Order: sequence, then C-alpha cells, then structure tokens
Amino acid sequence: MRIAVLGTGGIGGYFGGRLAASGHDVTFVARGDHLEAIRDSGLVVTSVAGDFTVEPAHATDDVTSIGVVDAVLLAVKTWQLPPVLESLRSLVGPGTAVVTTQNGVEAPDQVAAVVGRSAVLPGIAKIFAYIDGPGRITHAGGPASLAFDEWSAAPAPSDRVARLREAVTASGAVSPVPDDIWAELWSKMLFVVPFGGLGAALDSTIGELRTKPSSRALLQEAMREVETLARARGTHLPERVVAGTMAFVDDQPADATTSLQRDLLEGRPSELDAWTGAVVRLASESGVDVPLHRLLLEVLTSRHPGALLG
Ligand SMILES: NC(=O)c1ccc[n+]([C@@H]2O[C@H](COP(=O)([O-])OP(=O)(O)OC[C@H]3O[C@@H](n4cnc5c(N)ncnc54)[C@H](OP(=O)(O)O)[C@@H]3O)[C@@H](O)[C@H]2O)c1
Repeated sequence: MRIAVLGTGGIGGYFGGRLAASGHDVTFVARGDHLEAIRDSGLVVTSVAGDFTVEPAHATDDVTSIGVVDAVLLAVKTWQLPPVLESLRSLVGPGTAVVTTQNGVEAPDQVAAVVGRSAVLPGIAKIFAYIDGPGRITHAGGPASLAFDEWSAAPAPSDRVARLREAVTASGAVSPVPDDIWAELWSKMLFVVPFGGLGAALDSTIGELRTKPSSRALLQEAMREVETLARARGTHLPERVVAGTMAFVDDQPADATTSLQRDLLEGRPSELDAWTGAVVRLASESGVDVPLHRLLLEVLTSRHPGALLG
C-alpha cells in the first residue's frame, strides 16, 4: 500500500515504521533535525516488541510532494492539526483512508471538515511511544494496537478497512476490531482526560491518585462526568464503564502519568484544549454540567498561561 505518515513521532514513527519495515511504500512527514536524521540514517525504532530500522526511509517536510495515497496515518498532536489539515487534501483521492490517532473525540470531525467524512477512519492508538532523539523512536510499552473503522461502521468491514487491518497486523502491531469506534474513543477519553487533568492539577502519579481516598473519589467523579456527557451525546458506552475503567487504573504501573501532565508541568505545548477543554466545550453544547472539569480547566489554564493555545 502507499501510505503517508503525517507526523513521525511516537505514534507515526512506530506504526508507520512497522508498516514500512514490512514492505509498504511509506513516506514519513517530519521536519528539522528529525527529518535530516531520518534521511541520513533511517528511522531507528527501539521497541519492547523488537528493535528495527527503516533504511532507507522516504521522508519529506513537503506533504504536497507525496501525491494521492491509499492511507494517511495522521499522527500529529491535536494542537498541530489545524496547520496540516489543508495540506492533507493533496494526499486524498476517491478511496483514500485518513486514520486519526489523536486522543480526545474531536479530531475526526476536524479532519472531516476538510476532506469529508467518507475519507475519515476514526482511530485509537494504544501504546506508550515517543521520540527519543533525531531519527529515533522508542516504544516502551502498552499493547501497541491501532484500532479504526469507517465513520458509520457496517457489520462487515469495508475493503479498505480490511486491507489496512491486515497490513497493520502483518507488520507486527495489533489492529483490534472495534464493536463501536465512537464508544471506544469516548471510553479512552473517560480514562485519559480525568487521569490527565487530575494528575496535572495535583502533580500526582496514577498510583498516588488511586491510593488516596479523596483523589480516588475525584477520579471516579470526573469519569462519571465524561460518562454522562458521552451518553447525552448518544454514545453507547458499556454499562459499567466507570467501574471497568477504575479496574484498569488499578492495573497500571504506579508511576504512570499522562503526556498532558508531563507537557504542562514541563512548560511544553499540551493537549489540554482537546482533553479537559473538549469535555467542558462539548458539555456546554449538550447542556450537561461538568463542574469538576470546569474547575480543572480553570486551575490548569491559570497555572499554565497559554496552555489552551497549545
Ligand atoms: N505517544 C503515545 O504513546 C500515544 C498513545 C496514544 C495516543 N497518542 C496520541 O497520538 C497523537 C500523536 O502523539 P505522539 O505522541 O505521536 O506525538 P509526537 O511524538 O509529538 O509526534 C508528532 C510529530 O509530528 C510532527 N509534526 C507536527 N506538525 C508537523 C508538520 N507540520 N510537519 C512535519 N512534522 C510535524 C512533530 O514534529 P515537532 O516535534 O517538530 O513538532 C512530531 O515529530 C496525540 O494526539 C496523542 O495524544 C499518543
């Protein structure tokens, strides 16, 4: 398949790297030192599932030089989406699938506004991966799965979804078949947004959040707010989604934190707007009250001026 990886970071570098290493025609979009290093020495991936190097790796900073592809792996951070969306048009032909991987629930709509819903496969990446130097990606853990589906899924997968799942699976990653991709997006949001917002506000690891009775109660309350919002918007979440997510929380390594927390606390651009900001924004749109998320947004934006601008 011809594939464009738009953003060669933790997600694009890992899943795109696996696809390239398994023989697909992959072009990596990157910039600066990272682009130079990929061009000079290939894309070097250190992975708990086995190290590999893509060399030579096709890489560019000019999206419009790539042309129409079969699939786009859209793997920039949420605040980096607006500038890349226009260039996305040049990659999309009649059958092209654009897979979103961003945390939160708004990226598919943002992409659809530019290329149309029929091009978009809402997706979810579950992995812990990051850039650890120019041309280098580390995959440190997590299931390394990439789930996606058509906007309105039919009982049988479309041809392009089936082909892409087969390619991801054959590359050595996992591509689970979601029952309902929207429910899965919201379920993931129900985990990462409360964990990210409270972790950042309280400067706490997941182990600390789940152990102290007061923060454990807040974590559950924040999850219930996301649950109420998702149901109000017609999402079919599992019956006991908060209890199930708390069990997942209890299973995580005690020192885990979110990228939101690390980015905010280290003064980097963050996904606060697409996480806590989106809960507050969508709740207001849907007439749902989310007082805990409103408080978290207020605290985090006043403590980290500019955080909402990314
Ligand atoms: N990493 C994970 O483990 C993980 C897990 C699940 C979900 N996610 C989600 O996946 C999304 C991507 O996260 P990530 O961790 O892969 O991000 P990341 O490591 O920061 O990678 C994004 C890459 O895109 C590049 N980029 C952005 N705009 C570009 C442009 N216009 N031209 C060329 N390159 C551009 C960035 O370059 P610069 O560094 O120069 O900006 C960076 O190399 C996020 O929404 C995140 O929440 C991540």
